[in-house]
Amino acid sequence: MYQLILRGTRLGDEVLDIGVQDGTIARISAGIEEGAGREIEAQGRLVSPPFIESHVHLDTTLTAGEPRWNESGTLFEGIRIWSERKKRLTREDVIARATQLLRWQAAQGVLHVRTHADVTDPEFTGLKALLEVKEKVRGWADVQIVAFPQEGMLSFPKGVELMEEALKLGADVVGGIPHYEHTRELGVESVKESFRLAEKHDRPIDIHCDETDDPESRFLEVMAAEAIRTGMGERVTASHTTAFGSYDNAYAFKLMGFLVKSGINFVANPLINITLQGRYDTYPKRRGITRVKELWQNGLNVSLGYDDIMDPWYPLGTGGMLQPAHMAVHACHMTSRKEVTACFDMVTENAARTLGLKAYGVAEGNPANLVLVDAPDRWDAIRRLAATTLVTKDGEVISETSPAQTRLMGEIVDFRRGEE
Ligand code: FE2
Repeated sequence: MYQLILRGTRLGDEVLDIGVQDGTIARISAGIEEGAGREIEAQGRLVSPPFIESHVHLDTTLTAGEPRWNESGTLFEGIRIWSERKKRLTREDVIARATQLLRWQAAQGVLHVRTHADVTDPEFTGLKALLEVKEKVRGWADVQIVAFPQEGMLSFPKGVELMEEALKLGADVVGGIPHYEHTRELGVESVKESFRLAEKHDRPIDIHCDETDDPESRFLEVMAAEAIRTGMGERVTASHTTAFGSYDNAYAFKLMGFLVKSGINFVANPLINITLQGRYDTYPKRRGITRVKELWQNGLNVSLGYDDIMDPWYPLGTGGMLQPAHMAVHACHMTSRKEVTACFDMVTENAARTLGLKAYGVAEGNPANLVLVDAPDRWDAIRRLAATTLVTKDGEVISETSPAQTRLMGEIVDFRRGEE
């Protein structure tokens, strides 16, 4: 007897049953004969490990329109609106919004989330609230918090001390924002400071790096150099790196070699990058996104995040991770059969590497954290932005969704090629 059996799940090219016992994946095989406390018919749906949000700001989420909507759509109007909204930030406000978003995400199978928390605030209102949220949701969502110096580490009064204090309070990851420091020199120094803090406190690094269309913004090379020097590569993540999309090819090709040597991780945020970048161009307008396809082709680990969900920088979003994956297919020209599937991996397996997760994946012995997606494979999941129909956390079903059903002139249409 198992605690739970998912029957007829699609795993790779096979249709298999998954038996769960004591919250763990006990067996994966065709036709498990024993019974279970609960049995669920997957009907050939794709089974996947949980989706992962590798870059979001839970302290700003769900504030779009407060106190006003971003009319120009630019990063800078977003910053002005946020500085107004920030004045009435409270613990309760952050806890309520962050929890709501995490609930939306868990309902769609997102059980691991890396959030940035603005620590250029001597009160640490956002960080302290997110630390509380992290504890509160621990039973169903795993949250990592990055100490993020939104207004600069060396250009903001006592920025380094604030970072240090944030890590002592419990932030999991060291952030940075070198392209927003007042000078190139301060930016370079800030990257080195992030590495110093990470080594001192034994934490991973995730830096907002070169989030601009400025082809002269070259802090990624500093990150690579520091990662090579310290040997920290696999614990280091460069988020955004949108300027890489604007670098001259001669420089970009040289840089790619150093990046491969460094072994660092990348997070692109296709929905927000394509929305916020290119705003100062007339035509042709740049896509303003890092070289996702080329990084992936060179064997570097790339994952995808939202960045913003209904806040001053981006008014849309539900938290479902197939949306950024779908946008990556378009904005990064990832349209071949293999490339579309790779975009699914960028919101699951690759993101697990970025977050340093252990025991992740649909394999015997791992925690029974599973999602069923209403599609036969990863490719089709992205094509139809398919619903997540079932989510289990440690073997308990925590979310169920009935996919929409359409009838045309009395007959069901399921949008699959060759349907009857
Ligand atoms: Fe961000």
